Amino acid sequence: MPQSKKPRPQASKAPRESVKILITGGRIQRRIQEIAKQIRKDFPDEPLHLVSVLKGGVFFLTDLARSISGEVSFDFIAVSSYGQNTHSSGQVRLTRDLDSSVEGKTVIVVEDILDTGMTLQYLLRLFEQRKPKHLRVAVLLDKPERRIADVRADYVGFSIPNEFVVGYGLDYAERYRNLRYVGILTLGSDTKKVVAEK
Ligand code: IMP
Ligand code: MG
Repeated sequence: MPQSKKPRPQASKAPRESVKILITGGRIQRRIQEIAKQIRKDFPDEPLHLVSVLKGGVFFLTDLARSISGEVSFDFIAVSSYGQNTHSSGQVRLTRDLDSSVEGKTVIVVEDILDTGMTLQYLLRLFEQRKPKHLRVAVLLDKPERRIADVRADYVGFSIPNEFVVGYGLDYAERYRNLRYVGILTLGSDTKKVVAEK
């Protein structure tokens, strides 16, 4: 008796994600060296206190901190956006505060990406109240087209187009942070782009 053919397993219906390299790991590292030199040139004799925003900013912070000569300390803060939808509601909330005071310190806020600017606006207001000696901002990536809040970074790694990017700390649903490069994420075969999911 002929054996009944088993149905073949169907190809997964889940959309396939792909990441296209936008900025190589080598370019990121070279740019970080330049930014580190610039920061030290701007503050030749000051101890610098880097404050990174978890979790996206961690790799930028660790590479930057090791590239700046002289005295450097660092700390971490975490924030989240209110709202359940994939687009940021624009309201920012502190979820983890710093370990130590920033009063009288030369503080560099180290962020992965400046998008609408709502996060940075919130952080700058918070830090200004705490009376640092100087307050500056370093971002690895800047998406100027998306800006809502009137904020700017003093040190920018790369200005990028309005695409959803992952890697080098940036995630999509907590994945891709560990890539050494920054890439544009596309979802599925219809190449539908991911828009600013937080
Ligand atoms: P902003 O408050 O809109 O400037 O958002 C800043 C935060 O949104 C970043 O620190 C990221 O966590 C997240 N974000 C914005 N754009 C992207 C992106 O293209 N990929 C991954 N995360 C992003
Ligand atoms: Mg972030």
